[in-house]
Amino acid sequence: MRKLVIAIDGPAGAGKSTVAQIVAERLEYTYIDTGAMYRAVTLFVLRKNISVCDVEAVSRLARESEITLAYEKGKTRVYLNGEDVSEAIRMPEVSRMVSHVALIPAVRQAMLKLQRQMAARGGVVMDGRDIGTQVLPNADIKVFLTASIEERAKRRWQELTSKGIAIDLEELKEEIACRDRMDCERETAPLIKAPDAVLIDTTGLSIEGVVQEILKLCEERR
Ligand code: C5P
Repeated sequence: MRKLVIAIDGPAGAGKSTVAQIVAERLEYTYIDTGAMYRAVTLFVLRKNISVCDVEAVSRLARESEITLAYEKGKTRVYLNGEDVSEAIRMPEVSRMVSHVALIPAVRQAMLKLQRQMAARGGVVMDGRDIGTQVLPNADIKVFLTASIEERAKRRWQELTSKGIAIDLEELKEEIACRDRMDCERETAPLIKAPDAVLIDTTGLSIEGVVQEILKLCEERR
């Protein structure tokens, strides 16, 4: 059977990574979390104590970052220069800074190159903000997932709390809204639905319901 390329975009907390990971598992495809890649670069920037205003230095770090994604025991692990940073990249300080790093064109260029290499063999589910529009414009299936800001904030809060990361729900809602605004308004590769993407509003939908909708699209295209 033909190996498809599936692009899933949408704002923070819309359920992209949960859904994309399950779809990849069911199809035995590779799941690529591009948000994790921008988070890894951001962690590197924070650790080096570089200001996000120093575009040159941040761009250099992005080019020097060796980022690999591995699937271990049913979970994606993220490695930065050989170190497992899967937990560290989810910390609130990284979340607060990541959209500032992600708007730098040279950072995006470096990530785009890596992402296309990762998808080259097909059989991938890639999620992010610009996958259907910039990274994989010829993807077989494009999905744009969204949900109300309240629901998205609640989901992220539950996810973080279950990992022992304490954060105020209102604060989280503000951070997500701010990140969405920056992601939508940036000049390079803004968050936008590709004209040929299927829009799914996940508010009130179960994870399995969304997974089934995407699998149905895959059946139709194969
Ligand atoms: O998906 P996640 O919420 O972890 O992404 C973190 C941030 O990385 C986003 O808010 C966005 O600024 C950036 N990002 C991006 N392009 C992508 C994926 C993520 O700009 N394809």
